[in-house]
Amino acid sequence: MSDLFAVQVRGRSTALGPQACVLHGHALPFAEALLAGIDTVTAAAPLRHLVTPGGHVMQVAMTNCGRFGWCSDRRGYRYDPVDPQAGRPWPAFPPVFLALAGEAAAAAGFSGYRPDACLVNRYAPGTRLSLHQDRDEDDRVAPIVSVSLGLPATFLFGGFARGDKTVRVPLLHGDVVVWGGVDRMRFHGVLPVPPGVHPDTGGYRLNLTFRKVR
Ligand code: SIN
Ligand code: FE2
Repeated sequence: MSDLFAVQVRGRSTALGPQACVLHGHALPFAEALLAGIDTVTAAAPLRHLVTPGGHVMQVAMTNCGRFGWCSDRRGYRYDPVDPQAGRPWPAFPPVFLALAGEAAAAAGFSGYRPDACLVNRYAPGTRLSLHQDRDEDDRVAPIVSVSLGLPATFLFGGFARGDKTVRVPLLHGDVVVWGGVDRMRFHGVLPVPPGVHPDTGGYRLNLTFRKVR
């Protein structure tokens, strides 16, 4: 509990690899606008629990905005320009999403970042995301920009094989993790989110994952 409301210092960064880092507190000035943007997105494309190809219901609730949305069902994983639940395109990026993603990518050494997809993840306490690689994108070099909001969590950052050693990275409200280039295909995941209440998100952790698909 002790660091649940820890005050973040913006500007500090921690290297996780040659082209991977945590930008501590980088999203703090954008947090309120990002949360308003998430409300707009989820009003048009509600959060939902997707089914994996193996038939398991995912613990993390998800939705998307941007040109492509990440989808999973019994047929497999894919990017779809249409929200299959609504039968219409995903909501556009709220402008602040692009501003933050571009700024964070640049701060991590990736200038000119133009993501075309943003996955919105919502974690209730106890929810985890098992170790995986992001491999459904055509572009395997452009960075992933991953923004944490609300309840803190522990991010696992590994190597290029599932069994490789992982480091545990505490992520607080406003932290941004960026990994691209030679680090783009690293395994990563999230440990079960501890229970808590955050002043800005209540009983949830929210995550925005920006990617360049095409
Ligand atoms: C993801 O890998 O899609 C999400 C990571 C996170 O929630 O921090
Ligand atoms: Fe991922």
